[in-house]
Amino acid sequence: MQGRPNTTDDMVQGQAAYVAMLYLNDSYSENVLQTRLNVIGVQNPYIGKGGIVGAIKDLAKMRSPRLLIVDISGVDDPLERVHELAALCDPQVGVIVVGETNDVVLYRSLKNAGVSEYFFKPIVGDVVGHTCNALLNGAVEQTSPGIGIGKLVLLLGTRGGAGVTTIATQLSLYLANERKRRTVLVDLDLEAGDVALQLGVEPQRALGEVLAHPERIDDLFLERGVTHISDRLDLLASLEPLDDAAHYEEDAVLSLLTNLVRTYRYVFVDLPVHSAIHLPRLMRQPGTCFLISDCTLTAARDVARWRTALGANSVNRTTFHILNKKGADFALPFDEFLHAVGTPPDVVISYKHEVGRASVLGATEVVKCRSFMQELGPALQIISGEGVHAPKRGFLRGILGG
Ligand SMILES: Nc1ncnc2c1ncn2[C@@H]1O[C@H](COP(=O)(O)OP(=O)(O)OP(=O)(O)O)[C@@H](O)[C@H]1O
Ligand SMILES: [Mg+2]
Repeated sequence: MQGRPNTTDDMVQGQAAYVAMLYLNDSYSENVLQTRLNVIGVQNPYIGKGGIVGAIKDLAKMRSPRLLIVDISGVDDPLERVHELAALCDPQVGVIVVGETNDVVLYRSLKNAGVSEYFFKPIVGDVVGHTCNALLNGAVEQTSPGIGIGKLVLLLGTRGGAGVTTIATQLSLYLANERKRRTVLVDLDLEAGDVALQLGVEPQRALGEVLAHPERIDDLFLERGVTHISDRLDLLASLEPLDDAAHYEEDAVLSLLTNLVRTYRYVFVDLPVHSAIHLPRLMRQPGTCFLISDCTLTAARDVARWRTALGANSVNRTTFHILNKKGADFALPFDEFLHAVGTPPDVVISYKHEVGRASVLGATEVVKCRSFMQELGPALQIISGEGVHAPKRGFLRGILGG
């Protein structure tokens, strides 16, 4: 089994990842694990420094391995660190935690957080070796599904031009580039979608193909079919010929998304309104649905109609209303809109001339509209539990990895 990527560049570009990465605080545990990994064919695991804290630092820059072993000895808030680590890793990574205490409460909490196994020191070679083998080769059934599955975020406009693509691209770019979360953006508008255009790349055939032939979806397809926008942001977008009306079954979409949430931390779907009507099961999938409208009387009416169509919120699926373009020339006064819509929007974004101007040049220019990003903060908070981070030197420069 190949233990590491061919070159450092590969790693930085996100084209290859280590099979296993180890962050142990003592040489005994490190030797035991290295020996056991060698036995199961992992010749060159990545040996990191600094236990779980070092792993968090590295995984903000590096691709997730398939197996991650971290030491929590001496860490005050191990559970919090595990959650931090989980947010940075791909969902399917197997995580083994090593520590010094034989504590059943800690053990249960770690398992609940998605950790595959916890071992206290001194670790026993046979036992950890067996778990490593199970996680890497599926030798025995995993007792834990990995550190969770990714989050599905559907974005739907009450009608064309509400701002779905602008908001979807900005949220994805921020989470991928600034927060280092592995993210994919899927443009389900195969006839007129412009997500690829906004991100400055050509649409590929893969999405159209896989929706027509869902049986072809596998890891290889996902690896080859996506367009890499940045180290942590991938795109799935196709533009089908207009004379060959793009039609796909809901099962194909669900099958694709089921695969994507296993691989990505966030799966954003830019959903054309005419398709959403025909995808009722998709609209009820666990995750977050953003209903995006502008500030007109028609929009107020359509928000209420869509809320009814989408049904009540449940424990694992919530609809939020983003009111975009507040204060535009064509917009109703806000109070009148509120009166008409009945329920206050969850996120309000005002109309900004610079967004319209910047979007002509693409999503990477919109990123620079600072106040737009700040008003998107509540939407980020809803998705990730964290809003837009306080500006550092050169505001938002990091968003595009620059
Ligand atoms: N808050 C805003 N202020 C000013 N302009 C905005 C704002 N949000 C979006 N826009 C502009 O509105 C136009 C439509 O936005 P966008 O393409 O994101 O909408 P959409 O809902 O995806 O449209 P479509 O239905 O055509 O896919 C774009 O020119 C975009 O720059
Ligand atoms: Mg759009």
